[in-house]
Amino acid sequence: MSEPAVHAFGLRRRFSHPSGDVEVLRGLELSVAAGELVTVSGRSGSGKSALLALLGGFDSPDSGRVLLAGEPIDGAPPWHTCAVLPQALGLAHELTVAENVALPLRLRPGTDSTEERVTGLLADLGVGQLADRYPSEVSFGQQQRVALARAVSGRPKVLLTDEPTAHLDAGSSPAVLRLLRRCADEGAAVIVATHDDAVHAIADRRVRLSDGVLSAA
Ligand SMILES: Nc1ncnc2c1ncn2[C@@H]1O[C@H](COP(=O)(O)OP(=O)(O)O)[C@@H](O)[C@H]1O
Ligand SMILES: [Mg+2]
Repeated sequence: MSEPAVHAFGLRRRFSHPSGDVEVLRGLELSVAAGELVTVSGRSGSGKSALLALLGGFDSPDSGRVLLAGEPIDGAPPWHTCAVLPQALGLAHELTVAENVALPLRLRPGTDSTEERVTGLLADLGVGQLADRYPSEVSFGQQQRVALARAVSGRPKVLLTDEPTAHLDAGSSPAVLRLLRRCADEGAAVIVATHDDAVHAIADRRVRLSDGVLSAA
């Protein structure tokens, strides 16, 4: 059998605060297969974003390991291996919307035509008319869709998204859900931290983060 796309085990992560230490993750385990879409729920502050930071290699666990396709991660992997839609978006503000979305394709050209891929994704997400604007010239909800388009443009094997519908109205979230589902159907392992029942509804599997570990939701 092939390795899961994502396998994390024994993950522990403690943060120090003036008021005392908090152990946010306490021996957490998670396996996600290629083509599987898993949603992670949990109350605010339960550690969902902290978990995604560990899975994406932006942070290191105090103990435990993260394997992507069986390989231990060492820092943040290349974007075509694992791409992230962080809660804080992280768009490059000196680049236009289209240039942001094209970045992964320019870093590692594949079989996609950059222009077709970028134009198609922005249109699918209802922000096609914004291609030549700068992030500061579009709303936060629109920036969130641009950051999602950037995360998926290079067809990453693992896609980590943090509250991808948090800033969207009811009209624009179905397109985001369709794109997340399509990424999984095309073979990515997709992990979505979310409070949104509409996202849980498209999941293959739902887990809940509570007391530092995951359980079936
Ligand atoms: N870099 C950090 N430094 C200190 N504390 C952190 C850091 N990241 C997260 N935390 C703490 O870990 C807990 C979980 O945070 P977070 O992962 O953002 O929760 P969630 O995404 O589920 O709302 C919170 O108590 C938060 O204050
Ligand atoms: Mg969070």
